[in-house]
Amino acid sequence: MKDLFEKIYRDKGPLGKWAAQAEGYFVFPKLEGEISNRMKFQGKDVITWSINDYLGLANHPEVRKVDAEAAAKYGSAYPMGARMMSGHTDIHEQLQNELAEFVSKEAAYLLNFGYQGVMSTIDALVGKDDIIVYDVDAHACIIDGVRLHMGKRFTYKHNDVVSLEKNLERATKMAEHTGGGILVISEGVFGMRGEQGRLKEIVELKKKFNFRFLVDDAHGFGTLGATGAGAGEEQGVQDDIDVYFATFAKSMASTGAFIAADKEIIDYLKYNLRSQMFAKSLQMTLTVGALKRLDMLRTMPELKQNLWTIVDALQSGLKDRGFDIGTTQSCVTPVYLKGSIPEAMALVRDLRENYGIFCSIVVYPVIPKGLILLRMIPTATHTLEDVRETLDAFDAIRDRLENGTYRRMSAALIAAMGE
Ligand SMILES: Cc1ncc(COP(=O)(O)O)c(C=O)c1O
Repeated sequence: MKDLFEKIYRDKGPLGKWAAQAEGYFVFPKLEGEISNRMKFQGKDVITWSINDYLGLANHPEVRKVDAEAAAKYGSAYPMGARMMSGHTDIHEQLQNELAEFVSKEAAYLLNFGYQGVMSTIDALVGKDDIIVYDVDAHACIIDGVRLHMGKRFTYKHNDVVSLEKNLERATKMAEHTGGGILVISEGVFGMRGEQGRLKEIVELKKKFNFRFLVDDAHGFGTLGATGAGAGEEQGVQDDIDVYFATFAKSMASTGAFIAADKEIIDYLKYNLRSQMFAKSLQMTLTVGALKRLDMLRTMPELKQNLWTIVDALQSGLKDRGFDIGTTQSCVTPVYLKGSIPEAMALVRDLRENYGIFCSIVVYPVIPKGLILLRMIPTATHTLEDVRETLDAFDAIRDRLENGTYRRMSAALIAAMGE
């Protein structure tokens, strides 16, 4: 019989195999200093384009004050126990009511973490006779939620409504057979490429098919829509989203998440959402902190305006200089370049060491082989000067990529990897 760990000793996994070359620099880097547009990386000042602090709340003095006061008042334990047992408070309820109102739903329910919350929501919404139809590029938490499902599931091509329609036809036939219903799942904004989910066209399909619609709007909440209520508001279809999800990990610059829907659905989820029923309640510092952040989202529209000033300057600047930023329709700003993984590593090192620009790289297998994706997240704390410096740096690194500098710099690694 094999030792369970044998495979682990042999194969570190698609990302883990790069640990020796990448860890501490490309993955698990340590950004230091207060969260803002400029932080320190390995002792050097860098402009940070990799933090989802869209509205600049992470280090806002008012937020820091409320967080500190809540920590002093409640400590990090309160309340103890799961919501159902002993972890329920007026403040949790108040936050839920305010969140529901903000996203124009009847009710909301708090989740400790978005990831587990999405998984558990999917798990609670479907039974073995139901069918899930979801975008093939959905976030890992959606995929893991679907993995819990005991019944049938279909993927549709990324953001492709024709493919969704075909799969809805298949799902409808199957559901007639099983006697179940259909759950369609999309993201409000796809976090790698920045495209908005085609929510408007998806809800149009409700005229033809009978399904319920779950939207994970992690990146849309706080950044899109007239009031910041997200991609549903932006596309004018919030009412047709049956279950709306957003995390506190991005615009709210915290930890926690919520789902919002009709009261009867939330009442059901309260009693059936295993990630909350069998886990300690969201701690009070996070709950009080989320109330403060939500208040700022509502009352300080200038935060979103500042964010979009930077988004527009960065995206139009990149386009004017001939960079390929794909099809983004949100703050997420991808820059696609052609090159191998070793070239990408040399390029990112150059950006960080010589130009003081810190952004994340995404390479194969997340995107096709031969492409490098520099993923940039503008925030309300960035300045137009940050944008100018970054654009100039990007011009320089593109020249060096095209004239083979990075290929030469990484020749040894290229040879070792057979790229
Ligand atoms: C689309 C999407 N859904 C869900 C999550 C998970 O949220 P959390 O960080 O609150 O677990 C993330 C990442 O934060 C995300 O990008």
